[in-house]
Amino acid sequence: MGAGVEPEWVALNRAHWDEKVPVHLASEFYDLAPLRRGEGRLYPIEEAELPRIAPHGWEGLRVLHLQCHFGADSLVLAQRGAEVVGLDFSMPAIRAARELADELGLADRTRFVCADLYDARHRLPDPEGFDVVFTTWGTIGWLPDTAEWARIIAWFLKPGGRLYFADGHPTAFVFDESDGTVPVRGVPYPVPTYGYFRAEGLSLDDDADYADPEATLANSRTVEWMHPLGRTITDLIDAGLSIDFVHEHDAVPWQIFSAAERGDDGLWRMPGEPLLPLGMSLGATRRLD
Ligand SMILES: C[S@@+](CC[C@H](N)C(=O)[O-])C[C@H]1O[C@@H](n2cnc3c(N)ncnc32)[C@H](O)[C@@H]1O
Repeated sequence: MGAGVEPEWVALNRAHWDEKVPVHLASEFYDLAPLRRGEGRLYPIEEAELPRIAPHGWEGLRVLHLQCHFGADSLVLAQRGAEVVGLDFSMPAIRAARELADELGLADRTRFVCADLYDARHRLPDPEGFDVVFTTWGTIGWLPDTAEWARIIAWFLKPGGRLYFADGHPTAFVFDESDGTVPVRGVPYPVPTYGYFRAEGLSLDDDADYADPEATLANSRTVEWMHPLGRTITDLIDAGLSIDFVHEHDAVPWQIFSAAERGDDGLWRMPGEPLLPLGMSLGATRRLD
């Protein structure tokens, strides 16, 4: 993004995320107790899939965590021996990540950089040859351009390095409850609202927070984007990655719709037979060419 006037969407989205940081730090959703005990865990989807990304474990691996928020997942990977650079455009998030790293004795293995994702190449100027780029749950929906996102990932990965990406499934993001729900086999389902192929940003106004049902956000206006799955995958291939797996899930880590129920594994699913994919995850390798 570089110097110059910041686009309105960046300012709106950053103010929104800045406000969320203290809310999230105080929430039960982000339970930091296991991390503080030295036993930080990721969600079961990542735990099941990450052995394909780091088959020999995390010890000594150089990891770039994009959109790291306040670093909870970065610190889980650091606890497992990785050297992690976390990047996020929210200064309160980066400050909290640095404090947490100090508290947990992981400051020597972590570096947290405050930058817009699209400035990453300028803010981390060397292609540092990362072994893994990790980015999960609530990422590209905040970004207008997945082709550039993919090029940035490829730039930072060393040849043979791996990407791990998990997020809400774009099909699920077509549905919204603002206009009510319809009963499907007795379950109140949200209705199709946003075009799957829509390229323009969606201007949204939602003062709720996924991590704290009691919170009311003052900075409620955001701009978010739809990204069809095929295009995101093709952007990664065009940027120089080969795809190792694409998984679609009937669950996500947050209460994506009000009828969703939390399972014993901590993930949220719609009751009954799954009608829609709610989540997706993908592993990819930086090609040698
Ligand atoms: C839902 S969080 C994802 C983090 C992770 N799943 C978690 O729960 O800790 C989304 C993060 O993206 C960051 N973000 C949004 N737009 C960004 C941008 N343009 N550049 C860098 N970070 C951005 C926000 O500040 C926020 O911390």
